[in-house]
Amino acid sequence: MRAQPASTTPTRDEPDLGHHGDAEVGDGLVDLAVNVRRAPMPDWLADPITAALGDLAAYPDPRPARAAVAGRHGRPPEEVLLTAGAAEGFVLLARALTGMRRPVVVHPQFTEPEAALRAARHEVERVLLDPAEDFRLDPARVPDDADLVMIGNPTNPTSVLHPAADLAALARPGRVLVVDEAFADTTAAPGVPGEPASLAARRDLPGLVVVRSLTKTWGLAGLRIGYLLGDAGLLARLAAAQPLWAVSTPALAAATACASPAAVAAERAIAAALAADRDHLSARLSALPGVRVAGRPASAFVLVHLPGAAEVRQRLRQCGWAVRRGDTFPGLGPDWLRVAVRDRATTDAFTQILAEILEA
Ligand SMILES: Cc1ncc(COP(=O)(O)O)c(C=O)c1O
Repeated sequence: MRAQPASTTPTRDEPDLGHHGDAEVGDGLVDLAVNVRRAPMPDWLADPITAALGDLAAYPDPRPARAAVAGRHGRPPEEVLLTAGAAEGFVLLARALTGMRRPVVVHPQFTEPEAALRAARHEVERVLLDPAEDFRLDPARVPDDADLVMIGNPTNPTSVLHPAADLAALARPGRVLVVDEAFADTTAAPGVPGEPASLAARRDLPGLVVVRSLTKTWGLAGLRIGYLLGDAGLLARLAAAQPLWAVSTPALAAATACASPAAVAAERAIAAALAADRDHLSARLSALPGVRVAGRPASAFVLVHLPGAAEVRQRLRQCGWAVRRGDTFPGLGPDWLRVAVRDRATTDAFTQILAEILEA
C-alpha cells in the first residue's frame, strides 16, 4: 500500500480480504451469511442449462450469449465481455490494466476487487466512506488524479445504493471507473420501471466498466457467470487477459436465458418482493435494543451495527444461525454484522432468537 493521506488511510489491523460469507455457513446452520437467493430454478432457466449438457463435447461459443446480453443492455456485442462470474472480471481488470498510477477502491465494499488489484501488484489506495454519513458517497472524497476507481452499487456489505448521477460524476477521460453492479438486479424503486441507479446502459461515460453477476438472484454461484460492460477497446484489452473458453457452455446458456425480456421482468418482480421482505427485516431488527440498521438498505442484505456483534454472532451460531461477520471489510469492525434478507417467517424466527440473545 502506498503512504496515504489520513482521510483515505486504513488503520490498525489489516482485515482478511479473502474471507467470504460462504466460509460461515455449513454445519446445518440457517444461512443468513451468503447473499445468493435460494429458490427453485424456473424452467426457462433450468431447461437451457440442462440442454447444454448435451453439447459439452464442443468448445463453448460465446457469440449468441454475448449478443443476447448486449441486447438486454442496449449495447453492441463488442461492449460485452462474458466472464466466469463477476469475480473473474475483477481479476481481468487487475491484470490487464497495467501501469495505473493511483488505483482507488471505495470501501466498505466487496473485498475481491482490492484483493485482485493487490495480487496483480497494484498499489491500492482506499477511500473509506463514513458510517456517520450512512456510507453515502461524497464524490469529492475520490482523489482527482485517481486513474482507476472501483466502487460497488448497490454496495456489499452496506446495502447503500448510490445515485447514478454521483457515480457518473466520477467518470472522466484518463480514468477507468469500475462500478460493481453484481447486486443491481436486486434494487427497485416505486414508479421506476428498471434498476433505479444502474449505469449498465450508459455508453457516454468515458472509461466506465460495469461489472454484472448472474449468480445472486438466479442462484447460479456454482455455475460462474457474469459479464463486463464498457467501451469496446477497453474490453478488448481485458479479453486479451482472459483464458480461452473461460465461460462454459451451460454458463453461456444461462446468460442467454437471463437476458430475455421475460427474465428481466421476472427479476423486477423478485426485486419488488425483496423490497417488502427487506423492510420487514429492517423493521424487526431496528426494534431490538442496541441494534442499528445502517442507512436505507437497498439490496438483498442489511448491514447492522451492534456493540459486541462479534460475540452475538458466536451465540447465533450456537443457536443454529449464520450471519456474516463485518470485521473483514475495510472500514467496518467487530461491531458490524451483515444479514441476508429472507422470507418473513425466517426473519421472524431469526429476530426472535436475536432478541433472546440480546436480553440474556
Ligand atoms: C458485490 C459483489 N460483487 C461481485 C461478487 C462476485 O460475484 P460472482 O459470483 O458473479 O463472481 C460478489 C460475491 O459475493 C459480491 O458480493
